[in-house]
Amino acid sequence: MFSSATASTTPSAPTVGASLPHESALLHVAGRAHYTDDIPEPVGTLHAALGLSPVAHGRLTGIDLDLLRAQPGVVAVFTAADIPGPNDCGPIIHDDPILADGVLRYLGQPVFVVVAREREQARRAAALAKSAIQFEALKPVLCLRDAHKAGDWVLPPMHLARSQQPGDAALGVAQAMATAPHRLQGSFSVGGQEQFYLEGQISFALPQDDGGLHIHCSTQHPSEMQALVAHALKLANHQVQVSCRRMGGGFGGKESQSALFACAAALAARRLGVPVKLRLDRDDDFLITGRRHGFEFDWAVGFDDAGHLLALEVSLLGDAGHSADLSAPVLTRAICHVDNAYWLPEVSMHGYLPRTNRQSNTAFRGFGGPQGALITEIVIDHVARALQLDTLAVRRANWYGTQSHNTTPYGQVVTDNVIEPLTYELASSSDYARRRSAIAQFNATSPVLKKGLALTPVKFGISFNVNHFNQAGALVHVYLDGSVLVNHGGTEMGQGLNTKVAQVVAHELGLPMARVRCSATDTSKVANTSATAASTGADLNGKAAQNAARQIKDRLAAHLAAQWQVPAQDLRFEGGQVVAPDGRQIGFEALVSQAYVARVQLWSDGFYATPGLHWDRQTLTGRPFYYFAYGAACAEVLLDTLTGEWQLARADLLHDVGRSLNPAIDIGQIEGGFVQGMGWLTTEELVWHPTSGKLLSHAPSTYKIPTANDVPAALHTRLFNNANVEDSIHRSKAVGEPPLLLGFAVLLALRDAVAACGPAGAQPPLSAPATPEALLRAVDAVRAP
Ligand code: MTE
Ligand code: MOS
Repeated sequence: MFSSATASTTPSAPTVGASLPHESALLHVAGRAHYTDDIPEPVGTLHAALGLSPVAHGRLTGIDLDLLRAQPGVVAVFTAADIPGPNDCGPIIHDDPILADGVLRYLGQPVFVVVAREREQARRAAALAKSAIQFEALKPVLCLRDAHKAGDWVLPPMHLARSQQPGDAALGVAQAMATAPHRLQGSFSVGGQEQFYLEGQISFALPQDDGGLHIHCSTQHPSEMQALVAHALKLANHQVQVSCRRMGGGFGGKESQSALFACAAALAARRLGVPVKLRLDRDDDFLITGRRHGFEFDWAVGFDDAGHLLALEVSLLGDAGHSADLSAPVLTRAICHVDNAYWLPEVSMHGYLPRTNRQSNTAFRGFGGPQGALITEIVIDHVARALQLDTLAVRRANWYGTQSHNTTPYGQVVTDNVIEPLTYELASSSDYARRRSAIAQFNATSPVLKKGLALTPVKFGISFNVNHFNQAGALVHVYLDGSVLVNHGGTEMGQGLNTKVAQVVAHELGLPMARVRCSATDTSKVANTSATAASTGADLNGKAAQNAARQIKDRLAAHLAAQWQVPAQDLRFEGGQVVAPDGRQIGFEALVSQAYVARVQLWSDGFYATPGLHWDRQTLTGRPFYYFAYGAACAEVLLDTLTGEWQLARADLLHDVGRSLNPAIDIGQIEGGFVQGMGWLTTEELVWHPTSGKLLSHAPSTYKIPTANDVPAALHTRLFNNANVEDSIHRSKAVGEPPLLLGFAVLLALRDAVAACGPAGAQPPLSAPATPEALLRAVDAVRAP
């Protein structure tokens, strides 16, 4: 049922649209997949470790290099002064030192690189940072609200208002607020989230004979690693080659923040002239790198008796940490997702990025979108409880329209809205209405255990908000035996990108999957690539690879057409054969051999740029997204109001991936995203020491990600039957990030269960993560007379 129309006309097994296994599935489960640390080390390879700042804020006055150099096995120690070029690895704004210089900005900031014969020796020496680093302590800023009050932001604030009234939009919103029949206001906070990729950050730098460097790096962005290493080492980009076969997860954490490690390993390798590997320990990874931005919100809403949101004002404070990193695009995406699935006629948003003495926060699946959309779900939940209406009824009252009421606050018209049919289908298949009344009955007679239910929608914009990132390149080689090697600018992090791109190429050339192989991402093959991010991997690289494969196919067809005297466009490539309308056919391999002898080019590059996008960074308006991906989740929880412990009893997910390129992989992404979103909002709690600023939750012992045990037995996941209205690769839709927002349903179901402990209309004071402690406090608060 999922095969595309073209694939189903071929006699052989379809490739595009088929649930084929991940190209590395067998290697993954057998432990035979090679990650960066599995690359054999040449003799003489040295190992680096980073010495970290022991304080959150201070003036760096010296480093006891003699102490470090005297440690067993230590070969060299490098500091900021040893970096030949600019000491900077910031992806956009150049405010990210590779090694601390002058100021210590957060506890955990790398200050020096120690290189030793063995990794353990390097780590032991680096662990002496506390004694080796000399500093004068300064008062750290550890509170987002304090930094905001002081007006200390890493980047200027962003404002966006939209009103139906002529004239000043912010004024129009204020008027709509003032005249609304009902008003509510409040604050809400949501914590950050550690990417917790299973493979930590790692870079392995190998000097080349001509002064160049080859760096194997676990990164979502090889081209940026190349550019930043070249910049820091005063090399030309063509002297630096970056490769990544695969990552053991990235989740946004290796989009910009792999750079510091690539630069540190490269610096050491370049200075010493030998291969140097830098592989982080998990605790150091937590202490050094940033993660999802925690947000604080202040909101006010005006609404009518039916729950229509007549006016919404939101302030968003994103926890940038000590530097800008990707915070500007993250906040932009947050602002562009406050609407989520809803028509907000009168809306005004203010975004800020306060600076704190903490890790610099960065990309994480959803890239600010989840934070932005969550606040409106929380507001709607408040409105529904205030009116004592079912939360789904209030959501429904506010959906985007299809003909009108469909312009987003940032000016893009929503032309592919399927929210109503999608949520209707999920409400039916999950039996929402019946379970809602069954839960009310249960709660009425159960004083200790309370159930909660929620059904929440997702609308997520696909494309990079920065227009020029929406491009990709690919290289397809057809060898004389008819086998095909594909290389593209995207990176494989477990999401199945290489599988999907191989499917696209196999489909184009009419070959079985076994004939097509994707090789490691490499800056020397495809240049100037964008990060594999914003869920656009398959959209961009799939199209680029298709473009390359089509050029080869066209050349082969032209060659055969001349020979057989048939129109080239009538030749079909299918089942490993090339077939003419009159029934004549030739094997792909035989045709390739003939074409080679006739001196036909059997390889091609391909390129793709997403059409129709424009964005004005000043006014925050335009068409930033090519299309939207939709979804909805229905979650039921069971809460123990004596302990705050809870269980996810059942979850139903319905998600729109357009016409799926690979349903099995897409369902994996949907379920993984949902569980990761649930973890963010419930168990994953980041705790910094209130005075020292040390991240206390820096290992799995103190930072709890969901496990297989947290996935309910009753997890029903289905793909929504829909084709992309835009000409995306085979009319599919991006799937990497949007399903993370499905996890909202769990938080809102918990809020529902807590509300059931209080009188009708109770508003649980529950922020996220809703840990058992937080739930218990909220239960007590709604129960208090
Ligand atoms: N899935 C796995 N297994 N591992 C990952 O690291 N990263 C997510 C998502 N799914 C991730 C994942 C993020 S943050 C993004 S942006 C997309 O995959 C990137 O890949 P895509 O664009 O090819 O979907
Ligand atoms: Mo994903 S957060 O865009 O790497």
